[in-house]
Amino acid sequence: MDSLLIYGSYGYVGRLIAEEAIDRGLDPILAGRDRDDLREQVDELGRPGRRFALDDPETVAEAVADVDCVLNCAGPFSNTADSIVEGCLRSGTDYVDVTGEIPVIERIADRDAEAADAGVTLLPAAGFSTIPMDCLAAHLVDRLPDAEHLSLGVDSFRIPSIGTLRTVIEGIEDGGAIRRDGRLEYVPAAWRTRRIDFGRGTRPGVTMPMGDVSTAYYTTDVPNVEVYALMPQPARLALKAHRLGAPLLAPAPVRTALKTLAGIRDGPSERARRRGSAFVWGEARADGDRAVSRLRTPDPYVVTIDGALTTARRVLDGDVEPGYRTPAGAFGSEFVFELDDADGFFDEETPDETSPVSAVLS
Ligand SMILES: NC(=O)c1ccc[n+]([C@@H]2O[C@H](COP(=O)([O-])OP(=O)(O)OC[C@H]3O[C@@H](n4cnc5c(N)ncnc54)[C@H](OP(=O)(O)O)[C@@H]3O)[C@@H](O)[C@H]2O)c1
Repeated sequence: MDSLLIYGSYGYVGRLIAEEAIDRGLDPILAGRDRDDLREQVDELGRPGRRFALDDPETVAEAVADVDCVLNCAGPFSNTADSIVEGCLRSGTDYVDVTGEIPVIERIADRDAEAADAGVTLLPAAGFSTIPMDCLAAHLVDRLPDAEHLSLGVDSFRIPSIGTLRTVIEGIEDGGAIRRDGRLEYVPAAWRTRRIDFGRGTRPGVTMPMGDVSTAYYTTDVPNVEVYALMPQPARLALKAHRLGAPLLAPAPVRTALKTLAGIRDGPSERARRRGSAFVWGEARADGDRAVSRLRTPDPYVVTIDGALTTARRVLDGDVEPGYRTPAGAFGSEFVFELDDADGFFDEETPDETSPVSAVLS
């Protein structure tokens, strides 16, 4: 049996992934830095545990030397991915994670040649961000091979886990990001707003620095990529206020306030996950031509758990070439349909010519 180690296995997402991995017969090794949390989980799930911190990549390399693949669930990934990737490259271990953080994906992509030389697959962002949008981007470029612009968007506003909130808050201090002429360009938060029919009526989206800004580019080579998320008005106003210098999104007060407001303990309940869904939209443009397609998926956390484990299984099966890989780059645009209850692609045959950007807040 190929061995899978789940790092951050006792966090909200890690725990769900660990339990599902056991149900799928993947026999994971549980891992993290906290002795007590790990011991409690090991006792509960009856799987082996491995405690190690990430300060020294050599420690990581030794800890994963006998493992075929590490699935990193410990976020914010800006604090964890570099050290685990380095350890994996030294030990010859494949690496999968569920980051949605652009700088993390970019740093991993920079190690493509090194990973190929080491015979190691690096496949970050194998969660809701970025499997559905990455597959949709690949599908749109199959439809419009000369595409020069990709706009992607998601309507799935929901109460996130504390870990996601922490990651978003950390990231949002950097503002927004888009891809222009092949280069990553940092723009203000909520830089552009646009009314988008994500698949259940036209709603307002704002540009968000989601990991798909990186992966859609690496998968398709389309040089211009913007990613939008449905944003209810209070959140849009908060983002704009942040741009104007209000300390609304300073990490500590916001985290405390949102936790209290939402009553979040660690993340969405099982009932909320079962009832959740996401509507994913994409548009490719080239010289006056335009293609629009959509997807519908289960709740983002459900997609993340299913996506991460389906990816890890495929990596363990040796289905991926060594080097840096995106989800659709590794498995093709139809990969999203290997996940439970993903529907699409819903292609618009004659897309509306007018889908104007309603405001550019440069
Ligand atoms: N791609 C997607 O679509 C998607 C979907 C959902 C979540 N996520 C991301 O997944 C991440 C985890 O979310 P969550 O809700 O599970 O968060 P969480 O409940 O806070 O769990 C985070 C886990 O990471 C560990 N960790 C954090 N920093 C660490 C460090 N420096 N060294 C070692 N371990 C560290 C924590 O261990 P300790 O308790 O020991 O600190 C904990 O086990 C977030 O970044 C979130 O944004 C992505």
